[in-house]
Amino acid sequence: MDHFLYRDGVLHAEDVPVADIAASVGTPFYVYSTATLLRHFKLFDDALEGMDHLVCYAMKAASNQAILKTLAQAGAGMDVVSGGEYARARAAGVPGDKIVFSGVGKTADEIRKALIGGIRQFNVESEPELEVLNRVAGEVGVIAPITIRVNPDVDAKTHAKIATGKSENKFGIPIARAREVYAMAGAMDHLEVIGIDVHIGSQLTDLTPFELAYQKVAELTVQLREDGHDIRRLDLGGGLGIPYARSNEAPPLPTDYGALIKRTVGHLGCEVEIEPGRLIAGNAGLMVSEVIYVKSGEGRDFLILDGAMNDLIRPAMYEAHHDIVPVIEPAPGTEQAPYDIVGPVCESGDTFAKQRMMPPLAAGDLVAFRSAGAYGAVMSSEYNTRPLIPEVLVNGDQYAVIRARPTFDEMINRDTIPEWL
Ligand code: LLP
Repeated sequence: MDHFLYRDGVLHAEDVPVADIAASVGTPFYVYSTATLLRHFKLFDDALEGMDHLVCYAMKAASNQAILKTLAQAGAGMDVVSGGEYARARAAGVPGDKIVFSGVGKTADEIRKALIGGIRQFNVESEPELEVLNRVAGEVGVIAPITIRVNPDVDAKTHAKIATGKSENKFGIPIARAREVYAMAGAMDHLEVIGIDVHIGSQLTDLTPFELAYQKVAELTVQLREDGHDIRRLDLGGGLGIPYARSNEAPPLPTDYGALIKRTVGHLGCEVEIEPGRLIAGNAGLMVSEVIYVKSGEGRDFLILDGAMNDLIRPAMYEAHHDIVPVIEPAPGTEQAPYDIVGPVCESGDTFAKQRMMPPLAAGDLVAFRSAGAYGAVMSSEYNTRPLIPEVLVNGDQYAVIRARPTFDEMINRDTIPEWL
């Protein structure tokens, strides 16, 4: 459920007509709903009620300061994967003890800044990282709290580019070697082993892979405790999928996921963390775009939009489906026709949908891409010297631009010309 509904035939973001935002900020743009962000955060928080827990929003999904602040004020922690994300989370007011540092290639510099600034824990992904972390913690004069990310060798049954829990993936330490690596970590002077971390992939639409992974984590918890480690925190990662094609997808709900967590690891008495990104932000955001041309091709018609692959890369990169809806609701019974929906960028990959059934549209009409709140704006680029598109946050009947569209001068002046030219 989200807060982007038609009212009197006009698509609204909460109480604001989407067309009003388009008129004031121009297209294309992203718009997020505060109520949806908070609703989704709360679904997870409630699903873990009764357990000591922290929902750490995976801010890679959508990392605008205003989004972070909205969630942090509701009690969310943050999962960060770079020094930049750490700095962003801190700038949004998130205290260090609510920030988890994940990622397969943390640099010594990133580690140092997080140790000095304050951190809840590092999710360590390799033996060399353990060594660097131990050394840097020694230099800073602190003890670094750690979990080790184990790779449970579970097939997440999702798109290959976003599956992470199989042994062939670059992430974590093979679970079969976990005891050995925990022993190594336990012997390091400047580390404190506090738990286990696992994350098997993104956009999971079936709970079974989570169940298999969490069972393995539960077994490992018992073994590591036998080995003398004080395992008291389990970070169970993110990955719960969302319905992208609303007509025929119904992935499991956070409540089912919470029940699964309680069933698989609840008896261990550990504090539990989860790192959802997509389910919190995905259906809390739209990308709104204007039709520039309707072009008749050979055997097919194209809707050419002002939004492009640089603004929303998921269809080009993962063959991802996004529902695309007109901002003005078609009258009941309006006939639909198939269109290829494309952007203006000079490559064929700049295609959002092929032969998508749409009501009649004309140049100047607005369309909205649903489920674009996660991995939309954050993955955008200025390819073709197209400005990063604005982000807007709605809250009830108010809205604010939370990232403005840069001017061409701002974009161009970021380049510097060497003196010999
Ligand atoms: N934790 C870790 C360690 C992760 O690597 C990820 C996502 C998450 C949590 C959050 O997963 P989520 O709940 O959002 O599924 N760009 C891709 C998705 C990449 C996901 C990467 N890791 C896409 O657009 O589908």
